[in-house]
Amino acid sequence: MRTTPARTRIGYPFLVTSPDPQRYHVLTFGCQMNAHDSERITGMLEGRGMVAAADADDADVLVFNTCTIREKPDQKLYDQLKHAKGSKRRRKGAQVIAVGGCLVEAQKDNLLREFPWVDVAFGPGRIHDLGNYLELAEGEGAGVGHVPGHGEGFYGIGDERSFAAELPTQRERPHQAWVQISMGCNMKCAYCIVPAVRGREQSRSFTDIVSEVERLAADGVREVSLLGQNVNSYGNELPRDGSPRTFAELLRAVDAVDGIDRIRYTSPHPAHMRDDVIAAMAECDAVMPQLHLPLQAGSSRVLKAMRRTYSRERFVALAEKIRAAIPDISLSTDIIVGFPGETEAEFLETVEVCREVEFDGAYTFIYSPRTGTEAAGLVDDFIPNEEQHRRLSHLIDVVRGIATERHQRFVGTVQPVLVEDRSDSTVRQRQRLHGRTPHNVKVNFEGDARAGEIVPVDIVHANSESMLGRQLVATDLRS
Ligand code: SAH
Ligand code: SF4
Ligand code: F3S
Repeated sequence: MRTTPARTRIGYPFLVTSPDPQRYHVLTFGCQMNAHDSERITGMLEGRGMVAAADADDADVLVFNTCTIREKPDQKLYDQLKHAKGSKRRRKGAQVIAVGGCLVEAQKDNLLREFPWVDVAFGPGRIHDLGNYLELAEGEGAGVGHVPGHGEGFYGIGDERSFAAELPTQRERPHQAWVQISMGCNMKCAYCIVPAVRGREQSRSFTDIVSEVERLAADGVREVSLLGQNVNSYGNELPRDGSPRTFAELLRAVDAVDGIDRIRYTSPHPAHMRDDVIAAMAECDAVMPQLHLPLQAGSSRVLKAMRRTYSRERFVALAEKIRAAIPDISLSTDIIVGFPGETEAEFLETVEVCREVEFDGAYTFIYSPRTGTEAAGLVDDFIPNEEQHRRLSHLIDVVRGIATERHQRFVGTVQPVLVEDRSDSTVRQRQRLHGRTPHNVKVNFEGDARAGEIVPVDIVHANSESMLGRQLVATDLRS
């Protein structure tokens, strides 16, 4: 007979019958995928009658939703876990600490050994089961899920994955929603840990996605962002039975949903950016004139070493093709500097491509070796840290300059801005608000609009990150 591990016996708060609802706190690291997973976790916990705690120390259930894309998030998590040890001790053990997400998958052999005060660890594809894990862990000898070789307390590691889509969601922004369309990634980028921790790519059913968008629209959502590690390879493994299954078809189907005014998606892979997707973007009114297209590096040699499957020339030609089809589109990107063996000249090619393509913004990263990835083995070619930092700050300067210049095209224009503030005031009063333009630029403005309205804003100033404006009228603009 399997027994409940000692650490799960020490007073689970679920066992305490108290008139006060249990309190939870979720700490999220990493990408939008994780932010969305955290919405599901929060929705699930609230569905069980729990309420938000004031902070981590105050929580009966503390959930860490982790990321392991670079070394920095790992370090941040370890610091927070050490802090949680203290808070659990102060609460005399009456705190359940659950750790989920990508780092759990990467560190499954060490996590519970190094942090024995963690009660439950669950893989990124098993969020829908967290409630059951917590409940199972309650009962004496309840036969908590035990993954052989990984110790008690571990759940949903490895291939046991499924979409968390059917869970209730506590949306961060009431009028905007993320919709997961696929999970995992079949690419083999030499630096990237994602395929190892999120598994093979799996597309969610076309009809499930469209039904979720319909439900969201009925619930007042106006903007959806379709999420996946490689969104535009969506549908590759779906049955070819004549029913719609490609990413382009999905964009058109979501565009046809009444009430959805804005559609975005992230992240596409440049190698899979087919003409049918570009055509759908150009033709669908609700698909916004904005695209995040990760470049990673500007040198064809480095791109090859990264296994990105496209060259500098192909990327630039693709950007031109997209711009020809959707004039004035905003393109943003991800760039890694200091990949093993990157020379100064190759780095300068990245700078050149940024100038050539004129990105409206870029997330820039220093290469960080991840255990188990191909590039982590290129130790002899690692670029010294100071050099990586020098390249990064040069690149940031360039990217900021270009973004500031690009954003000037909006100054003096009137932009439809989707208001993001959470305001439940029924009286209209002028106040400082913020929202986003179709090109996904943040605008701070003065106005009397309500959350979720799309209102005309006169843009008076722009920098690399955001813009300033004045709301013209309170009329909502339906697109
Ligand atoms: N699926 C997405 C990216 C997910 S990771 C895509 O392909 O675009 C987000 C970004 O983190 C990547 O685009 C890359 O720029 C960066 N990144 C991934 N692994 C990294 C590493 N080992 N070191 C530094 N940056 C990395
Ligand atoms: Fe990582 Fe490459 Fe997959 Fe993106 S496409 S998740 S960078 S392996
Ligand atoms: Fe991080 Fe996992 Fe996202 S490693 S970036 S949380 S897919």
